[in-house]
Amino acid sequence: MVKKLKVLFVSAECEPYARTGGLGDVSAALPKALYDAGIMIRRVIPLYGNVNMDFKYCTDFPIKMGPNYQGCIIKRDTAQKVPTYFINNEYYFNRDKLYGYYDDGERFTFFCKAVIKMLDHIPFRPDIIHCNDWHTALIPLILKSINSDIKSVFTIHNLKYTGSIPMQYMEEYNMSLERLSQCGYPDNIDFMKSGILNSDHITTVSNGYKEEVLTPRYGEGLDNLLIQRKNSFTGILNGIDTQNYNPQSAKIPYDIDNLNAKDENKALLREELGLEDEDVPIVASITRLDDQKGIDIIINAIRKIDIQGFQFVILGTGDQYYENTLSEMASMYPGKMAAIFAFDAELAKRIYSGADIFIMPSKFEPGGLGQLYAMAYGTVPVVRSTGGLKDTVADAEDGDSPVGFSFKSYTVNSFIEALKRAIDAYNTPLWETLMKNGMAFEKSWEFPASQYIKIYKSLCDYHS
Ligand code: GLC
Repeated sequence: MVKKLKVLFVSAECEPYARTGGLGDVSAALPKALYDAGIMIRRVIPLYGNVNMDFKYCTDFPIKMGPNYQGCIIKRDTAQKVPTYFINNEYYFNRDKLYGYYDDGERFTFFCKAVIKMLDHIPFRPDIIHCNDWHTALIPLILKSINSDIKSVFTIHNLKYTGSIPMQYMEEYNMSLERLSQCGYPDNIDFMKSGILNSDHITTVSNGYKEEVLTPRYGEGLDNLLIQRKNSFTGILNGIDTQNYNPQSAKIPYDIDNLNAKDENKALLREELGLEDEDVPIVASITRLDDQKGIDIIINAIRKIDIQGFQFVILGTGDQYYENTLSEMASMYPGKMAAIFAFDAELAKRIYSGADIFIMPSKFEPGGLGQLYAMAYGTVPVVRSTGGLKDTVADAEDGDSPVGFSFKSYTVNSFIEALKRAIDAYNTPLWETLMKNGMAFEKSWEFPASQYIKIYKSLCDYHS
């Protein structure tokens, strides 16, 4: 019998338990695809305070945190295809939000240590630990310091964010000064640096972003470290859960051969959001209200062109300043603009199915899922050509299979120029081609999962 590869997937977020952004979507969908491809997979995330589900107690043990000990309870949800373990500690994780606390570094140091310790207590010993983003990035460092034969893969979903922890929290591990000094010692140990330097393979969520982070402009000060690891660094484009994001499950179902029903979804969306009934495209944005996402140029563009010839819908949460500005703007344009400040996955789907144009003028975008969700629903993307957006959105003016509109420089005028090209193309024969190409674009997880598996196998010297 062929031995199955065993992978433990570690993340700070996962739908349906906890999500603030794309990381939560990927942590739900990629493990499922790996399972379908024959990997024996388990997942582990923190148990946050707002998760009110009934999980099974597995075990508990103490974790040394500097001069003190903190208790760790392991729970488990077996109801999903991929069994998920939870790291439970009330003090660290029973809080209103997932992140944004002064002690995030300490909280996720606890998480990383607990994940490693958990392996002595559960009946699952992985060949690979697949870590995601900075919250998990001490795991590769710990594995190396304890001379473990478990290999680690570290996926960067966003290089911009990291955390750090004073050395005293790591002193029970036997680490060489050489290893530590590169990770920030004698100051604090930096999570991102630890992940980049100690994992056996690094991936990020598109090839475009991979190339970008090797340069000072996008490298967040880590470009030189990434260049050192260039031969063990791969860009793998994210997929989406095509069953969950599917126009055949829209309120009025439609597909690539029957696009008319999209108009009916548009009419329903207008009714729901109080938009006027006029023959213009609906331009939508579903996003974190965060600098990365280009909210400043969206706001300035809308002000400059005064919502002529289209309607505008924005759904998202985040920066209070952006929420205030957008809500003032929405009250200036009654019947033409709607701004909803919520995290609402079902409303998001109604917007994807009812809108015509989806905008994503990101400053940088490691992968980007919004443009893929939009394309699944035949909604034409207008994006800044960066990272994963560059890899997925071929412009109407070039390429064999154009799906949308893109622009290069991060300025209000370049964005307006691309948006105007989209608005002009609406109601022309080109539009249907763009919609259909976007819908046909391959976005399932099957191929990306096979690329991850190739990496796992190369690390384990595994032959199937
Ligand atoms: C982060 C990135 C986004 C990516 C997502 C999932 O949120 O900013 O570009 O799609 O992670 O990988």
